[in-house]
Amino acid sequence: MAKLITILMLYSLAQAISKPVAHVNVIPQGPEAVQEWFKNLPNAKEKLTKLHFYFHDIVSGKNPSAITVAQSNFTLKSPTGFGLVRMMDDALTIGPEPNSKIIGRAQGIYGSASLEEVGLLMTLNFVFTEGEYNGSTLSVLGHNPVFREYREMPIVGGSGVFRLARGVATAKTVWFNVTSGDAVVEYNVMVLHYVCK
Ligand SMILES: *[C@@H]1O[C@H](CO)[C@@H](O)[C@H](O)[C@H]1NC(C)=O
Ligand SMILES: *[C@@H]1O[C@H](CO)[C@@H](O)[C@H](O)[C@H]1NC(C)=O
Ligand SMILES: *[C@@H]1O[C@H](CO)[C@@H](O)[C@H](O)[C@H]1NC(C)=O
Repeated sequence: MAKLITILMLYSLAQAISKPVAHVNVIPQGPEAVQEWFKNLPNAKEKLTKLHFYFHDIVSGKNPSAITVAQSNFTLKSPTGFGLVRMMDDALTIGPEPNSKIIGRAQGIYGSASLEEVGLLMTLNFVFTEGEYNGSTLSVLGHNPVFREYREMPIVGGSGVFRLARGVATAKTVWFNVTSGDAVVEYNVMVLHYVCK
């Protein structure tokens, strides 16, 4: 009998461990849910979350994740590529390797917006697809002088678990191929957002 109980306990433990956790943090959507969320805001607590991932900007080859959508005839003569505009759907991964696990995408537009140095206007969303942030986004609007070691960009908002978020993303290039233009960039993000008490 004791043996049977042990077996049953082990079985339920294994069941508990193997239970999928995909929908644990699904946050209710729709206008009523958002209204409810705002109503509860006075009781919510501000939380600081730290995120770390790698951004793969692939502009060359057969499967680029960032493509040129506009440029001026002036762009080709400009030492800073002024006027170049690209649309990206860049992979965000846990490690710097090209085959590292993908946890989201950086979707948006960057444009060469500086005459003096290579400086990009970044307008994009980090769209998370894994774990507790699956389905949530963070919006970036910032200045990215790509040849400097560290670039700081504001997080101006978010959705899902990141509703009303604000924060700072720090970018550092870890790999850049001058010939192809492909780059891997490390991102550290500090973000303030709300959690219900
Ligand atoms: C992320 O959310 C989507 C939509 O709800 C779901 O289809 C997908 O399975 C989830 N992915 C993970 C890894 O939980
Ligand atoms: C760019 O093209 C326009 C229209 O064709 C032309 O008027 C202008 O002179 C060109 N500018 C440069 C920098 O080549
Ligand atoms: C850099 O890009 C060029 C052109 O696509 C390619 O031939 C070369 O192998 C790349 N270098 C590295 C280190 O990946």
